[in-house]
Amino acid sequence: MAGLSFTVAIDGPAAAGKGTIARAVAAHFGFAHLDTGLLYRAVGAKGGDPVAVARGLTAADLERDDLRSLAAGQAASRVAVNPEVRAALIAFQRAFARQPGGAVLDGRDIGTVICPEADVKLYVTASPEVRAHRRWLEVGGDEAVVLAEVRERDARDMGRADAPLRAAADAVVIDTSEMSIDAAVAAAVKAVQARR
Ligand code: C5P
Repeated sequence: MAGLSFTVAIDGPAAAGKGTIARAVAAHFGFAHLDTGLLYRAVGAKGGDPVAVARGLTAADLERDDLRSLAAGQAASRVAVNPEVRAALIAFQRAFARQPGGAVLDGRDIGTVICPEADVKLYVTASPEVRAHRRWLEVGGDEAVVLAEVRERDARDMGRADAPLRAAADAVVIDTSEMSIDAAVAAAVKAVQARR
């Protein structure tokens, strides 16, 4: 099958485990991986006019080491409500998805907007409390504040008019609330295997 594209779309809310699952699926099948949240994080972190920044985004912008912070996540979700920002980032994501050899993209709107024709769609979720606890283990601080930020970001991502976060009708839903990482990865690999 070398040379043919094969696209795996993985969506879900913050800290549900989709990044871990996306990396593991990509490694398992030898596919390229794009964490699309980094695009929005890079736009938010740069400051200035987000539409101009999104149109001029370069690979180097994705290398900044402060993109993983809670603040960068909040900034990302604020610029991500802008339809012109989203539009400016579509072509890059679709080109990545169609590369020969297979690609995994994880984000919020991959199965619904960016790659509605994806070969496999996964929707990875978990309860807000579980997701906040996982994030808190990484970043520390006050767990109640982390939970409030998780809920705030969910509300913004699910409530926006353009490309809101939701599971595609044909997505396989993986709820990781009570799953180990290994079990969640195994479920994802099995879902991809079933479509190959
Ligand atoms: O996944 P991550 O936490 O890095 O995403 C940061 C923010 O970027 C999300 O809260 C969301 O608002 C936005 N985003 C998006 N569409 C994507 C990926 C991320 O709107 N495909």
